[in-house]
Amino acid sequence: MNHLLKLLDLTGDEIIHILDTGDRLKAEQKAGKKHDFPAGKTLAMIFAKNSTRTRVSFETGIFQLGGQGIFLSNADSQLGRGEPIQDTARVLSRYCDGIMIRTFDQSEPEDLAKYGSVPVINGLTDFAHPCQVLADLMTIREHRGRLAGLKIGYIGDGNNMANSVIAGGLKCGMDVTAACPSGYHPDKAVLDFAASVTNARFELTDDPKAAARGADVIFTDVWASMGMESEIAQRQKAFRGYCVDDGIMALANHGCMVQHCLPAHRGEEITEKVFEEHAQEIFDEAENRLHAQKAVMYLLMR
Ligand code: CP
Ligand code: NVA
Repeated sequence: MNHLLKLLDLTGDEIIHILDTGDRLKAEQKAGKKHDFPAGKTLAMIFAKNSTRTRVSFETGIFQLGGQGIFLSNADSQLGRGEPIQDTARVLSRYCDGIMIRTFDQSEPEDLAKYGSVPVINGLTDFAHPCQVLADLMTIREHRGRLAGLKIGYIGDGNNMANSVIAGGLKCGMDVTAACPSGYHPDKAVLDFAASVTNARFELTDDPKAAARGADVIFTDVWASMGMESEIAQRQKAFRGYCVDDGIMALANHGCMVQHCLPAHRGEEITEKVFEEHAQEIFDEAENRLHAQKAVMYLLMR
């Protein structure tokens, strides 16, 4: 593994190795132990979209590894004035030991990796949110002791989260049913991958109840992702019936977890009641962004 651009690029074993490393780094940090990582590494962090968790967890994570994060927003870097990604890649590679990017088009992290000479980490694009789903898989494994054989029910938009949950879940031997309304399906590359996995138990449906039935983990996410805010009225109509509520949870297995990458829109994709009943798991998930991303940096940047 040279970069983390999307989970589709990784094998199941590589994902499990990241999760094992994340568990180890988490235990070391909780025990106040120093991590075995060379001091003085720097991570450039490019943000073309808003962030709370991704920025704070990466900046804290590289600091805890003995290095330094450098925040670059589109607005105040030359990227915002049109400097090409190919040149940005080559410049940042001369200064930094890694580049994290949050942006719109998946081609941007892919091009940073192509033209730069340091590891590139995708901190969210319209296509994928691999760091989030690594944290989610880490959280599920912590709570349930295993991944293989558990059923994920994803309910909502076929967005970056859906794409990454399907790819990551199937690669770890989980069953995945995704309920997405027509017109809001996951990406074709992800559906093609799902269709290609032998023995995969994957289903795409427009029935949220089918996703919930027998689920061990229910995932949901906002109906209008960053950059799609102007479509909210139309999306609220399309996603009617896709709210994770008591009726949905009643169909799931006993002890079913809920995962939400946050920020959440209570009363849209999830009720306040379900959210608060599962807050422990959801905030464990948020915490694990730190540990999973430290694992990614540990494996890529040493
Ligand atoms: N879940 C997530 O990526 O959060 P931020 O948008 O706050 O980074
Ligand atoms: N799907 C959401 C995830 C936010 C972390 C978005 O892209 O805005």
